[in-house]
Amino acid sequence: MALRSALFNVMFKAAEKAARGLKRDFGEVENLQVSRKGPADFVSTADHKAEKTIKEELQKARPGYGFLMEESAPVPATDESGRRWIVDPLDGTSNFLHGLPHFAISIALEEGGEIIAGLVYDPIKEDLFHAEKGTGAWHNDRRLRVSARNRMTECLIATGAPFAGKGDRPVFLGEIDAVMANTAGIRRWGAAALDLAYVAAGRFDGFWERGLAPWDIAAGLILVREAGGYVSEMNGKAITLEKSPSILASNNAIHSDLMKLLRKPS
Ligand code: IPD
Ligand code: CA
Ligand code: CA
Repeated sequence: MALRSALFNVMFKAAEKAARGLKRDFGEVENLQVSRKGPADFVSTADHKAEKTIKEELQKARPGYGFLMEESAPVPATDESGRRWIVDPLDGTSNFLHGLPHFAISIALEEGGEIIAGLVYDPIKEDLFHAEKGTGAWHNDRRLRVSARNRMTECLIATGAPFAGKGDRPVFLGEIDAVMANTAGIRRWGAAALDLAYVAAGRFDGFWERGLAPWDIAAGLILVREAGGYVSEMNGKAITLEKSPSILASNNAIHSDLMKLLRKPS
């Protein structure tokens, strides 16, 4: 049975409330695809509404904690806890915008630079992933373990591709070429928080991406770690949320092989 701590309840209540709004808005997005203007403004409003709901709920329950959220200015903690919430109200915006049912709310709690709790909630599939430091990672009521696959040729690896002129496309092309040649396949599903949750769940064996923000990865980090996986920068260095230029998460068995593959694109 999953651990349902007071902290989990606070995070889940906030996510659930925002998820109700996102689900309603996702229904509308399909109707807007055919309009000339498209759903972009509508989705941006949905995103901001979700962030406001999450912030209000978390603030009500833990008034002194700070915030680092994608859509608004950082708020420092006002109590002694030194804790702050790191929130992505809608991870997978492009999917949402295009009517693709693969997006999530991501909420993490940081204390003294360390993530101590994380929740990733996909409201369409009703997939709830959560973890607290030292108590394991969970998918709904099921305990999570990363996959046990240790042969690269059997592994399914997720990634995020540069888009809209961002990132280093030649470097990325070298990386996917090397991974394509040596694994069972690559997935680019468009929601980094879920990519990490899927590594924690053993659905993906590994994940790498460059240029992500703290709110994309904070909750996923603790999910993977508490599921027994390993997370680092792509060069093997320890991840620091604010500064790390890349992330590589996988089961322990393939981490260094995957790192080598990515370092030396063929
Ligand atoms: C994005 C998603 C995507 C990743 C992008 C992120 P958003 O977050 O996580 O998978 O490739 O780099 O920015 O914008 O949908 O919250
Ligand atoms: Ca995101
Ligand atoms: Ca977002």
